[in-house]
Amino acid sequence: MAVDLLLGLQWGDEGKGKIVDVLTKDYDIIARFQGGPNAGHTLIFDGNKHVLHTIPSGIFHKTALNVVGNGVVIDPVIFRKELENLDQHNIDYTSKLLISKKAHLILPTHRLLDAASETSKGKAKIGSTLKGIGPTYMDKTGRNGMRVGDLELDDWKERYNLLTDKHLKMLAFFDVDIQFDLKELENEFIKGIEKLRSLKFIDSEEFLNTAIKENKKILAEGAQGSLLDIDFGTYPFVTSSNTTAAGACTGLGIAPNKIGDVFGIFKAYTTRVGSGPFPTELFDNDGKNMAKIGNEFGATTGRPRRCGWLDLIALKYAVQINGVTQLMMMKGDVLSGFETLKVCTAYKHKGKIIKHLPYNIEPENVTPIFTEFKGWESDLTKMSSCDELPQNLLDYILFIEKETEVPIKIISVGPDRKQTIIR
Ligand code: GDP
Ligand code: IMO
Ligand code: MG
Repeated sequence: MAVDLLLGLQWGDEGKGKIVDVLTKDYDIIARFQGGPNAGHTLIFDGNKHVLHTIPSGIFHKTALNVVGNGVVIDPVIFRKELENLDQHNIDYTSKLLISKKAHLILPTHRLLDAASETSKGKAKIGSTLKGIGPTYMDKTGRNGMRVGDLELDDWKERYNLLTDKHLKMLAFFDVDIQFDLKELENEFIKGIEKLRSLKFIDSEEFLNTAIKENKKILAEGAQGSLLDIDFGTYPFVTSSNTTAAGACTGLGIAPNKIGDVFGIFKAYTTRVGSGPFPTELFDNDGKNMAKIGNEFGATTGRPRRCGWLDLIALKYAVQINGVTQLMMMKGDVLSGFETLKVCTAYKHKGKIIKHLPYNIEPENVTPIFTEFKGWESDLTKMSSCDELPQNLLDYILFIEKETEVPIKIISVGPDRKQTIIR
């Protein structure tokens, strides 16, 4: 059986966690393929809200197995807290949460290096979540990193000490004042490692390819979004992994010809948290209303998310790079009550009108050109079928489908698992 992919098409926080949770009933295995605790995936059902950072969003279902793939970076300290949250809800994860031996570990000093790097950048900072993501992936590609499988070696602590010493020397190179108590950080780290050890470490690529042969249904869960991809995002204001479809192949060990559907998730408008260009960003009341109604605060850092109109040029770019076969539109309910909606359908770039994403999308390089749509008044949050949706919303949907040439199969009308319309 082929592996389906689910990924974000914008700057993250599209609602991936919610939809993975909705789809899990149709899958045997949910596998996270990249990113780490920079992600915050929100699930709401039965009156409870859960935020997952590293653990796949299928964990609340009884039968599905959940795999943290080799492409993921794990902070044992945050991971332990996530597991303790699951304990509180009596979720038995020991038999259904499997960790790739090849996943890299975020050390306390990776977090310190992240903070030092950001501080030293001053105004040019990336707006990182400061979870140590960049430094950990740097150690991975620099061939210095520590992996989960290393914890099974007798000399893992020596390896840890060597890498930590190196990091401390690197920290000294940054001309910034970062306060820390290494002993305390290490105590927390060791506690996290102990908890991590209670789970099964596996050769995940072997496990997943065997599952494919056995006709098991696998859903690969992405983190972040395509515009934060290390290669194709708004570099350098990106994360440090491939968030796009190709990342699922390298992050799980699955061959491209084993990929089935690619589900692309997008918000009916656009948000971004952290620094970096955002052509359709709003600084007026429309933007403020989106933020307020959409409750746009980061699930990991609590920072306010910047809001703006839907950017179809960027969306089409993401659809193309990922080979999206089905779209899912989130948070349409947030747009109820807007008299006019705008969608960016071209950019003015160096005096010309263009319809693709150019190398630079800073305000001095591109000006968005908008197509306007009539809004709708009705509250969508209690609607459960397409027949109930207002015509102006259907026109908005049809336009996006026509432009992207991909069908929108799910319309999400609220944060709860139940507020999901399948088309
Ligand atoms: P993820 O990182 O892609 O999993 O998304 P986040 O969880 O970071 O952010 C999505 C936010 O929107 C969360 O607070 C969700 O509860 C919420 N959400 C998801 N879908 C909808 C929707 O259709 N309508 C509304 N109003 N909120 C939604
Ligand atoms: P999910 O999976 C939104 C952003 C950060 C920052 C940049 C680099 O919840 O959609 P990093 O911590 O990776 O060094 O930060 O990327 N960022 C996200 N924005 N959603 C996320 O994940 C993000 N993960 C990282 O705000 O701008
Ligand atoms: Mg998020």
